[in-house]
Amino acid sequence: MLRGKRLLVSGVATRESIASAVVERAIREGAEVLVAAYPKDVPAAEEVLSGLEPAPPAVVAVDATNEGDLIMLEGELRRRWGRLDGALHAIAFAPRAALGSVMDVPPADIEVAVRTSVWTYAAFGRLVSRLAPPSGGSLVGLDFDSARAWPVYNWMGPCKAALRALNGYLARDLGAAGVRANLVAAGPLRTRAASGIPDFEVLVDRWDRQAPLAWDPTDPSAVADAVCFLLSDLARAITGEVLHVDGGVHAMATCLRDAPVDASETT
Ligand SMILES: NC(=O)c1ccc[n+]([C@@H]2O[C@H](COP(=O)([O-])OP(=O)(O)OC[C@H]3O[C@@H](n4cnc5c(N)ncnc54)[C@H](O)[C@@H]3O)[C@@H](O)[C@H]2O)c1
Repeated sequence: MLRGKRLLVSGVATRESIASAVVERAIREGAEVLVAAYPKDVPAAEEVLSGLEPAPPAVVAVDATNEGDLIMLEGELRRRWGRLDGALHAIAFAPRAALGSVMDVPPADIEVAVRTSVWTYAAFGRLVSRLAPPSGGSLVGLDFDSARAWPVYNWMGPCKAALRALNGYLARDLGAAGVRANLVAAGPLRTRAASGIPDFEVLVDRWDRQAPLAWDPTDPSAVADAVCFLLSDLARAITGEVLHVDGGVHAMATCLRDAPVDASETT
């Protein structure tokens, strides 16, 4: 599905990272991958990827909020490949204070959350647009259904809503160059980022009761498969889209396990 594609993947920090599953699947599908990891996560990323065949991908240290690091990354991609066919943005961070009640967060903490979790998606869009071949390219990011207010998610919710809006604007601006921008809205997965959200298990419990399909919060492979599809030419006419890989929760009005599913059960 990805033979001949040269892809940039961010967000590898642990074995559980969604991005780790994407790297594995993308390589299996024939892609060449360069991993951009947050500087302090580079040793862990190298360790996580070390077993991959035929060879583990190179890992470069990139703080995606730092303009200098982004210029270095563009130079590295030009030197290495001279082009880029696609990129996964799997980056989010909010200071602990931004995950309390939305009304009590110092603006400086919101700025950090937005710069890291939203602005960097635009920076990745710029990178793909500058390096994509004439045949086009693909940018993919990761959403947590931002159409609704969730328990516990707090300022990450507005960050994801902004990411979703930005995705549409990137689709608008990158389309002329044949570059697509799409998000995968994933259900809750037990990653390091998730462990930073107080009471994250409330969301897992919600999925347990509401998902029409079984949802395994320890398995990012279904999300990785969808990301690889969007990076591939199979998705060549899709842009500005949010693809839900959440076991179907986004389409349900009530908690299936709390309410009768048809009238006969109420009689
Ligand atoms: N885990 C979930 O339930 C879930 C659900 C939906 C969407 N997502 C999204 O998936 C993406 C990946 O998160 P994850 O759950 O795999 O967790 P994760 O902790 O494994 O990945 C988050 C990554 O962000 C990176 N990062 C943070 N600040 C950075 C910076 N300044 N520069 C470069 N990298 C930086 C970290 O190094 C880490 O690799 C995030 O956008 C997250 O919001 C996660």
